[in-house]
Amino acid sequence: MTTMKWSPAKRLRGTVRPPADKSISHRAAILGAMAAEPVRVRNYLHAEDTTSTLNAMRALGALVTVDGDLVTIRGTGLRNTTDLDQPIDVGNAGTLMRLLPGWLAGQEGRSYILDGDASIRRRPVDRIAEPLRAMGAVIDATDDRLPPFTVTGARLRSITYDLPVASAQVKSCVLLAGLVAEGATTVVEPAPSRDHTERMLTAAGVTVHRAGPAVTVTSVDELVLEEITVPGDPSSAAFLIAAGVLVPGSRIQVVGSGTNWTRTGFHRIVERMGGIIVGDLEEAPGDGVVGEEPIGDLDVAYGPLVGTTVEADEVPLAIDELPLVALLGCFAEGETLVRGAHELRLKESDRIATVVDGLNALGGDLEATEDGFLVRGTGGLRGGTIDSHGDHRLAMLGAIAGLASREGVTVTGMEAAEVSYPTFAQDLGGLLKG
Ligand code: S3P
Repeated sequence: MTTMKWSPAKRLRGTVRPPADKSISHRAAILGAMAAEPVRVRNYLHAEDTTSTLNAMRALGALVTVDGDLVTIRGTGLRNTTDLDQPIDVGNAGTLMRLLPGWLAGQEGRSYILDGDASIRRRPVDRIAEPLRAMGAVIDATDDRLPPFTVTGARLRSITYDLPVASAQVKSCVLLAGLVAEGATTVVEPAPSRDHTERMLTAAGVTVHRAGPAVTVTSVDELVLEEITVPGDPSSAAFLIAAGVLVPGSRIQVVGSGTNWTRTGFHRIVERMGGIIVGDLEEAPGDGVVGEEPIGDLDVAYGPLVGTTVEADEVPLAIDELPLVALLGCFAEGETLVRGAHELRLKESDRIATVVDGLNALGGDLEATEDGFLVRGTGGLRGGTIDSHGDHRLAMLGAIAGLASREGVTVTGMEAAEVSYPTFAQDLGGLLKG
């Protein structure tokens, strides 16, 4: 276990390029393995989660070569995964665990077991089991809802599925199953969530149709993808942005970050709170699905913050950044309220409990609710010690809290950052020297 002390920072200056997008890297690896012709993925994220995905694709029969940031995947095609007599190890990667079964569900007559680490074993899979069973696959889960679980593929029928909670992972799972089902499969979202799967499928030649909350895919014989370039990860960039906004005198440039509207809810929340972010963010999309991911540069500066309210429809657009909203709330004037975010309890840790308890131990004034939290801004944080609970985003939250605190923060379990952002300490170090 790595322990690291993050001391109060004087200011942050300079330019930083966030690591490659984790969500898009997972999808590039999976769609690459589903394709019949080789797919080149530029700027693939090399982190624990996305390495789990490359290894899973290798196990299923894809040939994967890695040459620096270029990953080349020679896939199996849509219906030809290899038989396996061992479980597929998803490690800590919830996205891999929830997306991959969509593809496996269409592998007629073949069974696959998926398992992962201790955190994965408490994350529900009933949310994907329900639609996949409705399509004809057989899913056997531990206690009917947890990993390890088995997916037995079948000839799938198409469905229209009303998502009970907004989840890009569940949406993507059903869309991937739709590729290998007969006919057209529709997912109806209660609120917009990240749309990387829809965009990448469009780029791969699939007919993806969006009409309001409904996304429809029609089954195909093959995916044709040639090359994908992964943008910087807005969720990783959010930690750098939060540091820039919180530490007085800071002025940083974040370059090459994804600016997809479905990922920039946090940026809009920060601006509402008084933080300064200048740059070209994508506008809210209408109907229709483009095949590209927008990339942009952002200028970030310190600004005095005021509290805000984040409602349920904004939650999926900032889901992984809500811990940072809690941190910003500690430094803001007035109250910050997040509601409709019960999903946070089902992430790498119970992020309502771990964030509220963690920041309270640093001198914050936060209250957990069933579906979110209330933060009473006190203008700052004293500092102290926070444990990551093996959750990458909690480890990085502790680090940023330390830079902005009065006495510094010691993070135990800092190595969890390797899951999504292996160069986190190095990148922040560069900005602290600037
Ligand atoms: C992800 C979707 C989100 C997010 C997760 C990655 C994805 O989960 O929290 O880190 O890549 O689709 P849900 O869609 O289940 O909320």
